[in-house]
Amino acid sequence: MRVVILPTADDAARHVTELIAGQLRENPRSVLGLATGGTMEPVYEGLIARHRAGLSFAEVTTFNLDEYVGLGPEHPQSYSRYMRERLFAHVDIAETSCFVPSGRGVPAEAARAFEAEIARRGPVDLQLLGLGENGHIGFNEPGSSLGSRTREKLLSHDTVEANRRFFGLGETVPETAVTMGIATICEARSIVVLATGARKAAAVRAMVEGPVTAMCPASILQMHPRVRVVIDAEAAADLALRDHYLRAEQIQSARDAKT
Ligand code: GLP
Repeated sequence: MRVVILPTADDAARHVTELIAGQLRENPRSVLGLATGGTMEPVYEGLIARHRAGLSFAEVTTFNLDEYVGLGPEHPQSYSRYMRERLFAHVDIAETSCFVPSGRGVPAEAARAFEAEIARRGPVDLQLLGLGENGHIGFNEPGSSLGSRTREKLLSHDTVEANRRFFGLGETVPETAVTMGIATICEARSIVVLATGARKAAAVRAMVEGPVTAMCPASILQMHPRVRVVIDAEAAADLALRDHYLRAEQIQSARDAKT
């Protein structure tokens, strides 16, 4: 794991935007794995700005991590709509190249169709991941099988409660989601995790320095050969080896600058 600690959340988001833009410059036909959540919003704003400055998404394919079961693509809280409003509608990507698991219909069928599409168009070159406060990736909550494929998952009680504020009074908050599985996520060629703010500090520590365990699904990333964890100072606060990562990154960026 390469751990990149930057002073602020803005710096961390800018760094991730640059990694994605670099991936697209290197291979304009890249397959990207995309994530939702508040943390990712500045990344998508950054990508839209890059697009206005000439970066093309015309040949890019995207796979999103997850979708709430029961929400159609028009629902304001659906991840399909999140992606359309925050990225897809503002860049030159083909609608037919953007895959978000379907929240409508039979979840097992949506999961099968999604896996089949990844098998056809993948592997994912760069998978972007956010981190849940409980260590979840996608909607693979604690206790998820580390060998899982895309499937319907029950959201943890805390996640359902945290989401309640986004839904109208009396509106049903989804209790399950179709999420890319942990093994599916780990098949990406490279993975970038973005986590910012003090709320994420404990999960960051468990992901980077804790044991590999289903109790912290993100900890499986320790087994992946190409993972970059991009965090701000607040999210890095609990890391035992924080100073070591900072030194390693200083040395690495000096080397990168020379090449
Ligand atoms: C949801 C998503 C995750 C995301 C997480 C963090 O649970 N399914 O993919 O990483 O939220 O969200 P935020 O960035 O808003 O903290």
